[in-house]
Amino acid sequence: MLLKLTWFGHSCFLLETASARVLIDPFLGGREVAADYILVSHGHGDHLGDTVAVARRTGATVVANFEITSWLAKQGIKKTHAQHIGGGFDHPWGRVKLTIAHHGSSLPDGSYGGNPCGFLLSAAGKKIYFAGDTGLFYDMKLIGEEGIDLAILPIGDNYTMGPADALRAVKLIGPGRVVPCHYDTFKVIRQDPHAWAAEVERTTGARATVMAPGETIDI
Ligand code: NI
Ligand code: MN
Repeated sequence: MLLKLTWFGHSCFLLETASARVLIDPFLGGREVAADYILVSHGHGDHLGDTVAVARRTGATVVANFEITSWLAKQGIKKTHAQHIGGGFDHPWGRVKLTIAHHGSSLPDGSYGGNPCGFLLSAAGKKIYFAGDTGLFYDMKLIGEEGIDLAILPIGDNYTMGPADALRAVKLIGPGRVVPCHYDTFKVIRQDPHAWAAEVERTTGARATVMAPGETIDI
């Protein structure tokens, strides 16, 4: 079954299933991308990104925590689906479960954005874990017990896990494949993703794929 992943840089990904285009953390810098669903991990500008503009233009349903969907309603975005940490829901294209993430989540106007999250996505018989912005936590092992085909992990350091902790995350999760994100966008998160990927493949059973911005891979 069709399952494609495109990286638009930073933490912005498009997951295409046979029936839907699911945009994750749409930090697009104004670029126009079509979407049926938008998943927002937390309120920071580099994740909430162009959510309001894309939702307005495309009529996509926004999935996020209750605090963010309430804030979006105030911006006129009413087509939302609120979930919260630990809760899963079967959307028409696949299941979304919100996972913990250790980070912050204020919205651009300073409003409280609730707890940040990651996403455990089940679609087309595959499980994808998008960690969001987070430090390393041992419960990643529990998430790994679900059987992760693809893990998308931040490696930038400074605001999230750096390469060393992201490598430990791979060992806790035990995914079949891993894709790094949240690096190189700003000076303080500059990293060598290829060196990290080589270390992942040398010391874990996972295949590591460094995507180029705009690149699409089959899952
Ligand atoms: Ni953040
Ligand atoms: Mn971030």
